Amino acid sequence: MMLQSRASAPAKIILFGEHFVVYDKPAIVIAINKRAYVTARPRANGEILVKSENMGISGIFSSDGRYQPIEGGTEAERKLKPIYTIARRLLSISGENVGFKLHVDSRIPVASGLGSSAAVAVASAAALGKLLEINLSKEEIFRVAFEAERIIHGNPSGVDPAISTYGGILMYRRSIGMERLNIDVDLPLVVGDTKIERVTGEMVSRVSKLRERKPFIVNKIMDVGGDLAALGVKALESGDLETLGDLMNINHALLYAVGVSSDEIERLVYAARKAGALGAKLTGAGGGGCIIALSRRMDLNRVADAIRHAGGEAFITEMTLEGVKVEE
Ligand code: MEV
Repeated sequence: MMLQSRASAPAKIILFGEHFVVYDKPAIVIAINKRAYVTARPRANGEILVKSENMGISGIFSSDGRYQPIEGGTEAERKLKPIYTIARRLLSISGENVGFKLHVDSRIPVASGLGSSAAVAVASAAALGKLLEINLSKEEIFRVAFEAERIIHGNPSGVDPAISTYGGILMYRRSIGMERLNIDVDLPLVVGDTKIERVTGEMVSRVSKLRERKPFIVNKIMDVGGDLAALGVKALESGDLETLGDLMNINHALLYAVGVSSDEIERLVYAARKAGALGAKLTGAGGGGCIIALSRRMDLNRVADAIRHAGGEAFITEMTLEGVKVEE
C-alpha cells in the first residue's frame, strides 16, 4: 500500500435532458474546468476519518460503521457517508484491513447542480484505488461512485458520476451507458448560481410524483425532451449555436413544466436572455442551484454581469476533456 495518493474529478453541466434521463431519455452533458480533489492516507486503527475542507465538516466512521462527529455535528454523517461507503467497498475488493484518512477539497459549489457530490465520489474512488494499488478501470471507478451516489440521491440516473469519470462531452442513457461525443465545438458558456442549495433526491421525487398524477402528459413532455437532446447533438456537430440556444430555451420550458424551476432560476434565466444569451436554462436538478447561458464570445461578460445584477453569482466556463485523474 502507498503512503498517500491524490485524485481529482471535474464538475459538469447538463446541456440537455436532466430529470428526463432518470426515465431513460438521453442527456447531453459536459465536464467543466472546476474540480474536486481527494487525498487519501492509511490509518492504522481501522477507522475511516473523512474531512471536507470546503464544507467545514469532518467525522470518524468506526469499523462497525458508527459515526462520531468532529466538526459539523451529527447531520454531517449524511454528507460524508457516500465516501465511507466507497472506502468500505474498495477495502472489500482489495482484501486489506486498514483504516483511512480522506481529505476532500472541492472547488465546485455544493448542492448547486454542478455535480459536486459525484465529482467527490469519483475522486475518492480513484484516490483509494491508487492507495490500495488495485488498478481500477474508469468503468470500475464509475460503478463504485454510482453505488455511493444512490445513498444520497435516491434514484439517480448515473449521469453525474459518468461525466465526472470520463470528462469531455457525453451522451448518456441509463439503459445504455455513456457514449463519447467527439465534437470540436467552441461553446461559450456562463454559469449563474442562485446560491440556493437544493437536494437532488427531492427534486427527482417531485417529478416522479407529477408523473404518477399525470402520466399521459408528463411522458409526452419527456419524449420531447429526448428529441431535443438528439437535435442538440446535430446542432453541436454543425457548430450551430443559435439552434442550440433555441433548443436550450425549449428544454428549460419543459423543466419548468415538470415543476423544477423557481423564482430565482427564472430571474437569472431571463436576465441572461435579455443580455443577449442565445439560450439559457437551469442545469442539474433545479429548485435552486445553477443555470447555464450559451452566449456569443463577445457577449459573455455582459451576460455574466446581468446574472450578477439579478442577484446570482456568475462565472464563465470552459469544457474540459480531462475526467478523473490520479495526481502524481
Ligand atoms: C442531476 O445532476 C441530474 C438529475 O437528472 C438526476 C440524475 O440524473 O441522477 C436531476
